[in-house]
Amino acid sequence: MAMNVSTTTGFFTTTATSFASTSSINAVKILLVTLFISIVSTVIKSQKRAAYKKASKNLSLPPGPTPWPLIGNIPEMIRYRPTFRWIHQLMKDMNTDICLIRFGRTNFVPISCPVLAREVLKKNDAIFASRPKTLSAKSMSGGYLTTIVVPYNDQWKKMRKILTTEIISPARHKWLHDKRAEEADNLVFYIHNQFKANKNVNLRLATRHYGGNVIRKMVFSKRYFGKGMPDGGPGPEEIEHIDAVFTALKYLYGFCISDYMPFLLGLDLDGQEKFVLQANKTIRDYQNPLIDERIQQWRSGERKEMEDLLDVFITLKDSDGKPLLTADEIKNQIAEIMIATVDNPSNAIEWAMGEMLNQPEILKKATEELDRVVGKDRLVQESDIPSLNYVKACAREAFRLHPVAYFNVPHVAMEDSVIGDYFIPKGSWATLSRYGLGRNPKTWPDPLKYDPERHLHEGEVVLTEHDLRFVTFSTGRRGCVASLLGSCMTTMLLARMLQCFTWTPPANVSKIDLAETLDELTPATPISAFAKPRLAPHLYPMSP
Ligand code: HEM
Repeated sequence: MAMNVSTTTGFFTTTATSFASTSSINAVKILLVTLFISIVSTVIKSQKRAAYKKASKNLSLPPGPTPWPLIGNIPEMIRYRPTFRWIHQLMKDMNTDICLIRFGRTNFVPISCPVLAREVLKKNDAIFASRPKTLSAKSMSGGYLTTIVVPYNDQWKKMRKILTTEIISPARHKWLHDKRAEEADNLVFYIHNQFKANKNVNLRLATRHYGGNVIRKMVFSKRYFGKGMPDGGPGPEEIEHIDAVFTALKYLYGFCISDYMPFLLGLDLDGQEKFVLQANKTIRDYQNPLIDERIQQWRSGERKEMEDLLDVFITLKDSDGKPLLTADEIKNQIAEIMIATVDNPSNAIEWAMGEMLNQPEILKKATEELDRVVGKDRLVQESDIPSLNYVKACAREAFRLHPVAYFNVPHVAMEDSVIGDYFIPKGSWATLSRYGLGRNPKTWPDPLKYDPERHLHEGEVVLTEHDLRFVTFSTGRRGCVASLLGSCMTTMLLARMLQCFTWTPPANVSKIDLAETLDELTPATPISAFAKPRLAPHLYPMSP
């Protein structure tokens, strides 16, 4: 028995030994093959890199001002505020659509022609898919927990996937339709009340608060943080919330000295840091208590029904059934969504209204389209949007001529690359000039003229612009995830205002002043106008 055992054991030992030796031979073979493959691929890669370097050595950097040693063009950045206007003038003077300005160790590469813009965001999209780290980006994202301003990494991939599949997917958009409709009705209610009080409508206030109301309703099922106003307008809390949103945006990548010389962070040499930190804190001070309360309601079992996007964020689960997002991720992502939603639709429509008031024939044409498509017996709805080509062309033209921000969010090069005939070193910030692209005379004849007709062609007018002849939602890996929601909010905002009211400049004003603010792209004087109802009285909402 013992021998048998031993023999058997010996057999197995032998088999195991021969198996072990066979498998170790295999392992050695695999190792050798792997080694061979990695040597070959390293050689190929380094040959490629060498060839690329050789080629790129023959290429020059884009033109630009001569940098000072170490600090680059930071003295000019500070001296010629607002910096974006200095850069625009510089490119004009140099007669170039691309340039390279050195701020500290950062290569800042503004681009203002569609061909080069497409080279960055289409041809070399994978290379330019990251974002820079700055105080304003860190503060907006709560330490890079979100999507828009997060460098290319796993956190960005996770959050972008959640946004596109769970938060602003077409199905979710449909689910939240009624909340948006309530805020379109409230807009009409608010403007109607200004008429009843014989007041002009402050279009900046009306458009910004429409945007704030829509996104607060979609996220929190609330229009107001406080009591609100009986006329449907914002209360002091909403005004403070939306002001903070616009302050956070104003200073996002705002040529802050410490963005380019990080060792100066905390000294707040140009006074931007305190505004950035305070604005992001104010946004969260309003939102975070609601988020904490809701998390608690789900934990305690008190809440069971999904009502809004906050419920979606809280109840997302990973593959082990655990919460997919931490409370911090939820809070910061919601703050970022607030910041992303309000500015573009409100800015475009405030400008569109100002331009149209100065060209009443355009106002008339857009209103006639609404009468033709919708009629005067019901209010325009989201389902009408596909047929409102002229109204959309008016909004699209406002995006072209009056972008909300001078530059698109920067795209950081993760490798050396070539754009046009220029060498762009790894780490450069490629930044599409929204202003420069939209007003480039080579793309747009008579570029300063507000002319919606230029967007009319056969087929449906849309607000997206993937060819980057100007920037609306941009394109590529870092393009906007919410073109459906953004287009819908923008079009409804304009369509409701035009269908429900006849607009005229305030009494004693013959022409609306369309001058720009010096350090921003808003109208220097908020657009204001008188709105008179033009539909049957029963169509106007009676309560907020
Ligand atoms: C008319 C409205 C809107 C316009 C014109 C707009 C425009 C843009 C632009 C220009 C970008 C930068 C693209 C780039 O880096 O090349 C962007 C990014 C983004 N937008 Fe929008 N946006 C709008 C509304 C919204 C809304 C409502 C949301 C969310 C609810 C949103 C979420 C985002 C996100 C998450 C990104 C970053 C994508 C990434 O970096 O991966 N946007 N948007």
